[in-house]
Amino acid sequence: MPQPTTQRRLILERRPQGIATNEDVVLREQPVGDLAEGQIMVRNHFFSVDPAIRDWMSERPSYLPPIRIGDPVRSTVIGEVVASRVSSLRPGQLVVGLGGWEEYSIAEAAYFSPVELQPGDQEQFYLSIYGAVGLTPYFGLIEVGKPQPGETVLVSAAAGAVGSLVGQIAKIKGCRAVGIAGSDEKCRWIVDELGFDAAINYRTGTDMVASIGRACPQGVDVYFDNVGGDILDATLLNLNKDARIVFCGAIASYNSTEPVPGPYNFWQILARSATIEGFLISDYLEQFPDGIAQIREWVEAGRLQFKEQIVDGLENTLDAFNLLFEGRNEGKLIVRVTS
Ligand SMILES: NC(=O)c1ccc[n+]([C@@H]2O[C@H](COP(=O)([O-])OP(=O)(O)OC[C@H]3O[C@@H](n4cnc5c(N)ncnc54)[C@H](OP(=O)(O)O)[C@@H]3O)[C@@H](O)[C@H]2O)c1
Repeated sequence: MPQPTTQRRLILERRPQGIATNEDVVLREQPVGDLAEGQIMVRNHFFSVDPAIRDWMSERPSYLPPIRIGDPVRSTVIGEVVASRVSSLRPGQLVVGLGGWEEYSIAEAAYFSPVELQPGDQEQFYLSIYGAVGLTPYFGLIEVGKPQPGETVLVSAAAGAVGSLVGQIAKIKGCRAVGIAGSDEKCRWIVDELGFDAAINYRTGTDMVASIGRACPQGVDVYFDNVGGDILDATLLNLNKDARIVFCGAIASYNSTEPVPGPYNFWQILARSATIEGFLISDYLEQFPDGIAQIREWVEAGRLQFKEQIVDGLENTLDAFNLLFEGRNEGKLIVRVTS
């Protein structure tokens, strides 16, 4: 295949204040660049659109450095190696790893892993159910939440990519699963189709403390927090003794322009001898093959359902990204790179 000389990329031109706009993230035609020793060039087939990318666009200290101004927006990608200066990954190999919102990613080979598609697999599954979206609920709930049969597991953003799987895994583990989501339709979906025991629409409920209390009459043993903010505060007043909070995300504050207040009811962590633990999927990298094998078994047995929303065209990425913060995505958001 002839090497490309230019490509389209979405460049971070300035740090967003609030929701990212077309002035912050700009589509540019740029030279592809040359490979250094140890690097590969990947022609991206799909890339991931995740809430955490908003955090990487800011200057806040985080688990990855801020995206530099002038660089493409960083994201997980899946695609085909088209050039390589390492022996471990050869042209033609399908790989998944850390690239960007761009047609071609040039990166250290160490940031990429080979993908062997199994019968029935679609490539983008490695950005969703067999990627961070499946592995986060799996390791987060099981290793950090430590759910026991009969316990109540509450999850926020429960109809989202991660949250919808948390509730289903909680059911597999013999727990009562309760979800918090942003519309009646989402609440119906997680109860009627996914088997959650109860759901709360946080946009229509006026008293979240009471709503959680009604949906979790035995109290909350595990809270899988994707959201932070008021929902975390209301949950703190419903915890059982020795409850575990999996701190997985805080999407309610990703676009904040003001300092975010800490939980008002933080004292409940002490009062209930509860634990709150930060969870980061990259800490489980070496266990990914085991996690994928278990998730695959549940998917093939029809015990786990997942939704993907695939958007065509690099140029539509920013609009897709912002759906996440309005609750208008339907499952794992992925962009298919079309030329
Ligand atoms: N720690 C890790 O390693 C790790 C890995 C992957 C993902 N995550 C985190 O997991 C969370 C979910 O990610 P995802 O990819 O599965 O996204 P998602 O849940 O599919 O999409 C985000 C959802 O968040 C909800 N939301 C948005 N703004 C909100 C607000 N202000 N208050 C309450 N809910 C709000 C929306 O649903 P509603 O309609 O219900 O509001 C939206 O659909 C994020 O916080 C993400 O950062 C963490």
